[in-house]
Amino acid sequence: MTTYICNVCGEAYLGEGKPKHCPFCGAHEAFIKEGKDAKPVTEVKEALSDVTIKNLQETLQLEMDAYAIYLCMAGKADSYEIQKMYKRLAMVEYEHATICTKILQISMPEIVPRLCSDAVLENFQKTLELEDNAANLYARFATEAVERHVKIMFTALHQVELAHIDLINKYM
Ligand SMILES: [Fe+2]
Ligand SMILES: [Fe+2]
Repeated sequence: MTTYICNVCGEAYLGEGKPKHCPFCGAHEAFIKEGKDAKPVTEVKEALSDVTIKNLQETLQLEMDAYAIYLCMAGKADSYEIQKMYKRLAMVEYEHATICTKILQISMPEIVPRLCSDAVLENFQKTLELEDNAANLYARFATEAVERHVKIMFTALHQVELAHIDLINKYM
């Protein structure tokens, strides 16, 4: 067994070989390193530009909302698989929110519960909308970031949200 560390969320994965995606934040395996080679973006303590602070705060809000909405959707699921899929999506988005708080060096704000539809199909559609919005936003935030670690973080998150769209499309 080897210790791998995700350069995006900074969490450790213990296993034989790298996972294809970080089990915590969903980052692609390209961002996962052997422990001694890891330099997580969450460990960089640098002054941030005003644009980056604004973009990270917007991302934090978006991810906290997604977490709360996906927890609601997990509760409305019509199968064990969909329930667990949404619970995991919620946890991945919570991890994204955590990454933002670490880079901003702030504590996690209070998360307000969110409502969702009773209809599973409507929840899939809403999920696609949320993920598409996030993916587009993070692509822009990646280009706007002047800090290397923030650029890496938004590039990784952009890919994760695109992978979520792919996941939901398989259920539709
Ligand atoms: Fe990660
Ligand atoms: Fe996310």
